[in-house]
Amino acid sequence: MTEIPHGLIKGVVLKRHDWTTRLFSLFVEAPINTYQAGQFTKLALPDGHGDWVRRAYSIVNNPKQMEGHQQMEFLIIADESGELSPRLKALNSGDEIFVGKEASGFMTINEMPQGVEDLWLLSTGTAIGPFISILETPLLEIRFKNIVLVHAVRAQSELIYQERIQQLFNRYNKRFHYVPIVSREHVTGTLCGRIPTLLLNRELEKSAQCQLSKAHSFLYICGNPNMVKDTSDALKELGFNKHLRRKLGQFSSENYW
Ligand SMILES: Cc1cc2nc3c(=O)[nH]c(=O)nc-3n(C[C@H](O)[C@H](O)[C@H](O)COP(=O)(O)OP(=O)(O)OC[C@H]3O[C@@H](n4cnc5c(N)ncnc54)[C@H](O)[C@@H]3O)c2cc1C
Ligand SMILES: NC(=O)c1ccc[n+]([C@@H]2O[C@H](COP(=O)([O-])OP(=O)(O)OC[C@H]3O[C@@H](n4cnc5c(N)ncnc54)[C@H](OP(=O)(O)O)[C@@H]3O)[C@@H](O)[C@H]2O)c1
Repeated sequence: MTEIPHGLIKGVVLKRHDWTTRLFSLFVEAPINTYQAGQFTKLALPDGHGDWVRRAYSIVNNPKQMEGHQQMEFLIIADESGELSPRLKALNSGDEIFVGKEASGFMTINEMPQGVEDLWLLSTGTAIGPFISILETPLLEIRFKNIVLVHAVRAQSELIYQERIQQLFNRYNKRFHYVPIVSREHVTGTLCGRIPTLLLNRELEKSAQCQLSKAHSFLYICGNPNMVKDTSDALKELGFNKHLRRKLGQFSSENYW
């Protein structure tokens, strides 16, 4: 077999859970270094021609979970035309997989400015994953008055993690607000449309029962790059600024492709 490239280590697939025909969770064990909630690492496979195909995937679980940080869940959507994701979809328990030893990424609690009272987590599709990791951080309730999780998907079947979300309601009580958005179906109890429009017409705040404010809110935006761009534009229109280490602002983002 081709030599394992620097930075990758061998792991094993523990199991695969299929949410829909395209959306699945891959549970992997590998001796990676510890990471921060919200970060991503690489998954890789040899391409059969002496090279490797590797892509970034966010870690869904919290590093402080009982099983330890070396058992990881990845939430993945298989793109039939893609090089790696359909191959990951074909993996089963006991299969070999290669994982980046060091996780990275700045969408973490530590990167946020101090003094934030309301945390807004805006996601499309598989980008709910890193937010679940953040929300499962021990003692997070001490830090925020309100936490709003927004998950926008095309179809109701993609509104996953309902059991974990129920546990978050139990844990955070009135501080936790969950806003599901289904863009291509009308589903009772969910919003219909897209995040930027729902921000501009204030429907998102109404549904979350939480008001955005420049003084108290911080937003993380993650997923489809077009959504990230349009949402950033909408937030700027509402008077919010991008957060930089050298210049404090109210929102920050991570693009998935
Ligand atoms: C920081 C970071 C974190 C990421 N985390 C995840 C994750 O947790 N889960 C995940 O499924 N993907 C994630 N991705 C995307 C992932 O790295 C791959 O790009 C994706 O799996 C497609 O790889 P591929 O080789 O199959 O297809 P490629 O040939 O590389 O890409 C095919 C096309 O698929 C689309 N696409 C890629 N990723 C997604 C996605 N997540 N949702 C919708 N459409 C997409 C794009 O249009 C892309 O052009 C992340 C990317 C980055 C940069
Ligand atoms: N999910 C499926 O059933 C399906 C089927 C065939 C192919 N695919 C492919 O699979 C990949 C992943 O699909 P996905 O459904 O997980 O992710 P996605 O295409 O990013 O859609 C997730 C959510 O993001 C919204 N969105 C897209 N562009 C936006 C923008 N500019 N501003 C705000 N919101 C925006 C979508 O709304 P809209 O619905 O309004 O776009 C949808 O609610 C894509 O490459 C897609 O082409 C998915």
